[in-house]
Amino acid sequence: MEFKIAVIPGDGIGVDVIREAVRTLDRVGQVFGHQFHYEHRLVGGCCIDAYGVPIQEETLNVCEGCDAILFGAAGGPKWDHLPRKDRPESGLAALRRHFNLFCNLRPAKIYEDIKDNSPLKNEIIDKGVDLMLIRDLTGGIYFGEKGTRQGKYGIEGYDVECYSAFEVERVARRAFEIARGRRKSVTSIDKSNALESSRMWRETVTKVHEDYPDVELTHLLVDKAAMEIACNPSRFDVMLTTSIFGDILSDEAGVTTGSVGMLASAAVNDKNFGLYEPIHGTAPDIAGKGIANPLASIAAVGMMLDIAFGLKEEADAVDRAINAVLHDGYRTPDIYRGAPGQVKTTTEEMGIQTAARISR
Ligand code: NAD
Ligand code: IPM
Ligand code: MN
Repeated sequence: MEFKIAVIPGDGIGVDVIREAVRTLDRVGQVFGHQFHYEHRLVGGCCIDAYGVPIQEETLNVCEGCDAILFGAAGGPKWDHLPRKDRPESGLAALRRHFNLFCNLRPAKIYEDIKDNSPLKNEIIDKGVDLMLIRDLTGGIYFGEKGTRQGKYGIEGYDVECYSAFEVERVARRAFEIARGRRKSVTSIDKSNALESSRMWRETVTKVHEDYPDVELTHLLVDKAAMEIACNPSRFDVMLTTSIFGDILSDEAGVTTGSVGMLASAAVNDKNFGLYEPIHGTAPDIAGKGIANPLASIAAVGMMLDIAFGLKEEADAVDRAINAVLHDGYRTPDIYRGAPGQVKTTTEEMGIQTAARISR
């Protein structure tokens, strides 16, 4: 089969890790007989430097003609002084908004061979972590009314958290449907003891649940959820939450598995068109050193093959290759512990070794 993919590495380590993700995709193409065509575009700080804007209109048009978007990460200290609208991250926000990518899937699963990298105790990890955090991505505080104004104490900045029943319902339906293909349990996370938008969230999720009686629904307040991720992550199957809570909890839930460099993410719309990316950022502290872990981006390629192209066998091959490369001891510094059999490796070497393990 033939597919067209918009490749947008962004800034910092985004460039290095997406190069390895594309290497894996090319290898999948060779092994399974597919053709992947790439449209390379700049978004983020690199686009500001080249064209004066975080994303070009033309890039949105190009993405419209593609079957999926592969994204790295945007941002960095060089552009931190810019006003919000002009920042590199606004390029990513524009893609999310333009394509209405309301459903953000952020899986976190323990890889057996790097179990010891988890910051959690063995007794907690041994119960297993295999969760899917589903985060609303186009509603709530990120896209609500915002600005600066004169307030009670002088100048103030504000961002409005607002959820319509419609927005909650559409992402909740996705969560229940995805739970049906997993362990049939949804934990919805809100702050309904303090926020009106969270009351709307909880009431709507409860109502939608009536259509999914075979799935168990639990409500949890976000502060308790943060604690449970650290103490008892095995209790979670599908987690459903708002944009801001999901941003924070997905880093926390993800890192229980060992490193933020291992975590992939998909953001899809109602037509199943999506953007695939690692959940980590541009990692300015290690950018340019060639040591970033590319496995999050390679896992994002796996999600793209599965969700965007319906290529399950190919997606499984990517998952197997990641497990195999870890099993064979290859470790970028974020997951290297100096144990016998471990080989400290670069981004490129990790990519080459992973691609080499793609097989039918
Ligand atoms: P970050 O995820 O970039 O880094 C957090 C820590 O994790 C750092 O110590 C970093 O070295 C490490 N890390 C991240 N990815 C890694 C990888 N693949 N391999 C090894 N180590 C890795 O988060 P931050 O420092 O808060 O943000 C840096 C910049 O990235 C900011 O400008 C932020 O806005 C941006 N950002 C962008 C996205 C995105 O585009 N989706 C996501 C998060 C942050
Ligand atoms: C993420 C990032 C973004 C978010 C930033 C870059 C705006 O942290 O994708 O997790 O908060 O959505
Ligand atoms: Mn984040």
